[in-house]
Amino acid sequence: MKVIYVQPEGGFDRVTLGTLEPRAPQAGEISVRIRASSLNYHDYAVVSGLWGPKEPRIPLSDGAGEVIAVGPGVSTFGVGDRVVSLFFQSWVDGKPSVCDFSSVPGDGVDGFAREVVTMPAAAFTHAPRDYTHAESATLTTAGLTAWRALMSDDALKPGDTVLVQGTGGVSIFALQFAKMAGATVIATSSAQSKLEQLKALGADHVINYREHPQWGEIARDLTHGRGVDHIIEVGGPKTLEQAMVAARIGGHVSIIGILTGLEGSLSVLTAIVRQLRLQGVLVGSRQHQLDMIRALEANPMRPVISRTFALEQIVEAFRFQESNQHLGKICLDI
Ligand SMILES: NC(=O)c1ccc[n+]([C@@H]2O[C@H](COP(=O)([O-])OP(=O)(O)OC[C@H]3O[C@@H](n4cnc5c(N)ncnc54)[C@H](OP(=O)(O)O)[C@@H]3O)[C@@H](O)[C@H]2O)c1
Repeated sequence: MKVIYVQPEGGFDRVTLGTLEPRAPQAGEISVRIRASSLNYHDYAVVSGLWGPKEPRIPLSDGAGEVIAVGPGVSTFGVGDRVVSLFFQSWVDGKPSVCDFSSVPGDGVDGFAREVVTMPAAAFTHAPRDYTHAESATLTTAGLTAWRALMSDDALKPGDTVLVQGTGGVSIFALQFAKMAGATVIATSSAQSKLEQLKALGADHVINYREHPQWGEIARDLTHGRGVDHIIEVGGPKTLEQAMVAARIGGHVSIIGILTGLEGSLSVLTAIVRQLRLQGVLVGSRQHQLDMIRALEANPMRPVISRTFALEQIVEAFRFQESNQHLGKICLDI
């Protein structure tokens, strides 16, 4: 089978195509013919060398496909079942129990940039019934992060206002989940053409964050001064201040992304007087994924896929991601 490796330290010039003999599943394992994956900023960091691996690594955290063999003792899946991978296979339910990437496919362990994987059955859930493999592959990281941020830690209510930053995978899922739940959505982007696409996806208000560096104040005005209930904070240090300006008293800011870096300053006083709930989010549990898939099966929502590349075009796909031309997800057809 075909497999992509990224060599130690990473870098697009250190990505190689190889072959690997698939192995038969042992007790508790399944073999899956991977049909699709999707790219996340985390995968970009591993492959581009921002957070390159210490040893040769098969990249990509997201994988979807069909079960081709089942090991002894597996009763949850049968041959032919359509499945989607989990970001954290050890976090089953309840409070967070993981705080690093050592067990995450495509980072601490080998991921899904290959045609066949043999893994514990616990590394997968069933995919949404009528989803394509590419659609399912968007759920593991971006979909689940947005789901958990809005539906788990201080769940969204109909009528709440949600602010999403930019048009990447997590933010577009958050926009869609928020509309599914009856919320008002304020969406931002740096690109005028994307603002129109955001409206077409259901955003009630759009703001160009490049043209309006004080976008937090604009967002607040759009709520008639009340402030935003839930903020999907993917920018990091350079967007957090405006996110806090936008938030209502007691508002929920999901600290998710690092698009503008890892460290910065924070107005502690604003956080105190506004009584904000600043909640770090790291993807989600198996139960979150099951809940999300149940909701997707009961609603007509489909993931937004900007473009699909072949497995062999993985570097081209990451370069496309780097160019920020996409809206939603970029997928690989495997
Ligand atoms: N904590 C977690 O569990 C978790 C899970 C998934 C992702 N993440 C993080 O969340 C972030 C987004 O991930 P993703 O996979 O959705 O990325 P992505 O698809 O690559 O998103 C890139 C988009 O982000 C927007 N953006 C860039 N700089 C921005 C800024 N200063 N302000 C607002 N928007 C900005 C741009 O939108 P426009 O072109 O429209 O301006 C860009 O197209 C990353 O930092 C990633 O590491 C965290």
